[in-house]
Parts: sequence; C-alpha cells; structure tokens
Amino acid sequence: MLWYFFVAYPTNQFSKIGQYNEEVLEYNDKFKAQWENPSEDTLKGMGESVFLVQCAPCHGVDAEGIAGKAQDLTHRMSKEQVLAVIKNGSQGLGYPMGAMPPMMASGADAEAIATYVAGGLKGEAPASFAVCSSCHGPDGKGMGGMAPNLVEYDDVLISKVLEHGKKSSIGEMPSFKDRLNETQAKALIVFLNSIKAGE
Ligand code: HEC
Ligand code: HEC
Repeated sequence: MLWYFFVAYPTNQFSKIGQYNEEVLEYNDKFKAQWENPSEDTLKGMGESVFLVQCAPCHGVDAEGIAGKAQDLTHRMSKEQVLAVIKNGSQGLGYPMGAMPPMMASGADAEAIATYVAGGLKGEAPASFAVCSSCHGPDGKGMGGMAPNLVEYDDVLISKVLEHGKKSSIGEMPSFKDRLNETQAKALIVFLNSIKAGE
C-alpha cells in the first residue's frame, strides 16, 4: 500500500490513486465479511492470540495459572479454594442471585462439600450439599446462569469474570470490560472452552 504514496502519488498517476481507493474499499468489505460471521476456528485462533497477550502474563501460556499466581483455567477450583468461598462467601460477579453469603457450611460438612465440588461433582453428593444446590442447582451447573456453574467454566462465568474482574483467596483479576471488544471476548470464550475440553 505504501508504494502508492511513495511512487505513484508524487509522479501524479491519479488513476493509481483511484485504484488504490477501490482496493481499500474491497479490502474493508472483505475484512468486514470475515469478522461479521467468524467461524469457530477463526474465533478460537483469535481467542488464543488475545489470551497470549492479555491473559498469559498471569494465567500462563498453557492457562495453568503459573503455579498459583492466577486461576488454573484447565481445571475448576481446588478444594482449598472451595473451602475459602464457603467460609468467606463470594461477591462482585453480577449474577442474578447476587452475592453468596459467608459460612453456608462449616466443619465436616464444609470438608465433604468442598471435596465433592473440587472433584467435579462426581458420584453421590454429600447430604449437606443440599444447602448449595438451592442456588447452584442439584447438578451444580448454576441453574441456567442464576449462580455460577461449579462444574465447568461456562460462557456465563467467563463473561462475568471478564466484565467485573474477580477477587478471591488466590489473588485479584482486573476487569477487562474496556480492554476487549465484543468479538475478542467471544473469541476468548471459544478458546477457553477448547482448552477445557482438552482439544
Ligand atoms: C493481573 C493478572 C491477571 C490477568 C491479566 C488475567 N487474570 Fe484471570 N484471574 C487472575 C486471578 C488472580 C484469578 C483468580 C481470582 C479468582 O478466581 O477469584 C483469575 C480468575 C480468572 C477466571 C475465573 C476463575 C474462577 O474460578 O472463577 C477466569 C475465567 C479468568 N481469570 C480468565 C482470564 C482471561 C480470559 C484473561 C485475559 C483477558 C485474564 N483472566 C487475565 C489474574 C489475572
Ligand atoms: C443463596 C444462594 C447461594 C447458596 C446457598 C450458595 N451459593 Fe455459592 N454462589 C452463589 C452466587 C450468586 C455466587 C456468585 C457470587 C459472586 O461472586 O458474585 C456463588 C459463588 C460460588 C463459588 C465461586 C464460583 C467461582 O468461580 O468464583 C463457589 C465455589 C460456590 N459458590 C460454592 C458454593 C457451595 C459449595 C455452597 C454450599 C455450601 C454454595 N455455594 C451455596 C450463590 C449461592
């Protein structure tokens, strides 16, 4: 493109300038078409590049959290993290249910619940999990976005975290609300879901 300015323009080849303008329009159209309806693959690639620049400094290039500096995004929470949430409650993510109160369970009940949640909610739920399922659902999946999905990083959780940021027992993540456009946020969600699925 620079060629037109350095070579064509000074020698007054105005037809070339016209051609340049047409090419720019054509390029813009193509660009628009490409991003209007990006395929899953395009989004995944784009999500990966955004992740490497904006997220990897804390979460690591493999999203494993750099030895506890940030959340390991290839797994859901550890037992210690779940225990910390049960003890301290959780707030600021903007779910329709609002904040989660502290001390929803304690002692052996809290231990049993945290083991069950950190283990991916497999097998039989401890009886005390009933206090959690009233908000998170019997399957722990958050009742369609009312409360966080405890089983996996779903689209709702990732977009809430990007919008509001997150503060917890292991550290603080800033909000990315003004740092990502809509397509980039969508691309990150597709990318993070692909690592979660082990692709
Ligand atoms: C400054 C460091 C930092 C940066 C940059 C950062 N994060 Fe985080 N992130 C954290 C920390 C610390 C946590 C743990 C907080 C928590 O889970 O409560 C976290 C938590 C998360 C969680 C939620 C974990 C959970 O269990 O609920 C998601 C999802 C996430 N980050 C995605 C991203 C994405 C995507 C980006 C890039 C746009 C990003 N983060 C950039 C530090 C960072
Ligand atoms: C009154 C409804 C309610 C109850 C009861 C409840 N939670 Fe929550 N929980 C929420 C909401 C809402 C959030 C998100 C709050 C926020 O951070 O904005 C949340 C957040 C969490 C998180 C953090 C998810 C993440 O990625 O940050 C965990 C873990 C969790 N709850 C586990 C439990 C467990 C275990 C129990 C039972 C002991 C329980 N909750 C009981 C509503 C509830």
